[in-house]
Amino acid sequence: MILSIESSCDDSAISITEIETKKLLFHKKISQEMEHSVYGGVVPELAARLHAEALPKILEQAEPYFKFLKAVAVTSTPGLAVTLIEGVTMAKAIAVALNVPIIGVNHLVGHVYSLFIEKEAVFPLSVLLVSGGHTQVMEVKSLTDIKTVAKSMDDSFGESFDKVAKMMGLGYPGGPVIQELAKNGDRKKHNFTIPLAQSKLFAFSYSGLKNAVRLAVLEENEKEKPDYKDIAASFEHIATRHLTHKLKKYFQNVPPKTFAIVGGASANLYLRSQIEELLKPYKADLLLSQLQYCSDNAAMIGRVAVEMYKKEMFSSLEDLDVAPRSNI
Ligand code: KG4
Ligand code: ZN
Repeated sequence: MILSIESSCDDSAISITEIETKKLLFHKKISQEMEHSVYGGVVPELAARLHAEALPKILEQAEPYFKFLKAVAVTSTPGLAVTLIEGVTMAKAIAVALNVPIIGVNHLVGHVYSLFIEKEAVFPLSVLLVSGGHTQVMEVKSLTDIKTVAKSMDDSFGESFDKVAKMMGLGYPGGPVIQELAKNGDRKKHNFTIPLAQSKLFAFSYSGLKNAVRLAVLEENEKEKPDYKDIAASFEHIATRHLTHKLKKYFQNVPPKTFAIVGGASANLYLRSQIEELLKPYKADLLLSQLQYCSDNAAMIGRVAVEMYKKEMFSSLEDLDVAPRSNI
C-alpha cells in the first residue's frame, strides 16, 4: 500500500491505495473553505497553520495501515510553497520512520488521474484542467508524456468565479455559489466580451472579463436592492464561451477522440453541457471525474503514486523539495 498526502492549497487530505488492485482503502479530507471564506480567498499563512493541525489528525486515523506501507507519496508541485512544505515534511518523517521510499507527485498529473481512481488509465487523451490555480489544455499520452498546449495568461477559470463571488460578497469558494445564482439568471442580459476572441493565440485570459463584471456589479450596487443573478449568469456564459471558442478552433486542427475535463471547476454543470455540445460532431468520448474527486484530494495523488511506484520513480529525501510552479 501507498500512503499519499495532499496539501498544495486549502485541502488537507491523506489516502491509502493498494498497489496491486489500485483500490482506495482510506481517504480523508479536511477542507479549509470556511476559514478562508471571510477573506474571499485562500490566505497562505492561515492555510499552512490549518494543515499543521489537520494532517496529523488524519494521519492518526490511517495508523492501522502503517505496517503494510511500501512507499509514501506527497504533492510536491505546484501550489503554495508554505502549504506544500507541510505535506512534504510529514511525508519525509514517515519515510524515515518506516524506512520506505518517497514519491513526489505533480498535482496536475494528480488531477488527470482523478479520472482513473480504482480504474485502469486510458490514453491518449486531451484534457482541459480547470481549477482555482490552473486553466490549461494538455495532450496526455502516458504518465510521463504530458504536453501543455494552452494555458491562462492571468487568472484561472475557477479563480475568476472566486473573484466575482467576492465582488458580490458571496464568500469563498465562488464556483458553486455563482453556479447556483446563475441558474435563475438571464445569460444574455449583460453583453460581456469573449476574451481573446480576435486573437489567434491558443491561450486563456480572465482578467478582462473580471473587470467588466466588476463594473456591472458596481452599477447594480447603485440600486436599492441589488440582484446579481443576471450578472452571474452572463459571466458564467462568457467564461465558458471563452473555453469553448478556443477549443473549437483547436479541434479543427486536432480533432478530439477522448476528451476529459478535470479540476475543481470541472464540477460546473454549464461548462459540462457546453463541452458535451462541442464534442458531438466529433463523436468523441467525454471523461469526467467522480464529483468527489474533482476538487483537490489525496485519492488522485495515490492513483498517480501507484504508477510511479511501479516505475520506481522515487525521490531521495535530500532532493525532494517543493516547487510552487509546475514544469508541465
Ligand atoms: O481543483 P481545486 O479544488 O483546487 C485547485 O487546485 O485550485 O479547484 C478549486 C476551484 C475554486 O476556484 C472553485 O471556485 C472552483 O474550483 N469551482 C467551481 C465550481 N466548483 C468549484 N468553479 C465553477 N463552477 C463550479 N461549480
Ligand atoms: Zn487542484
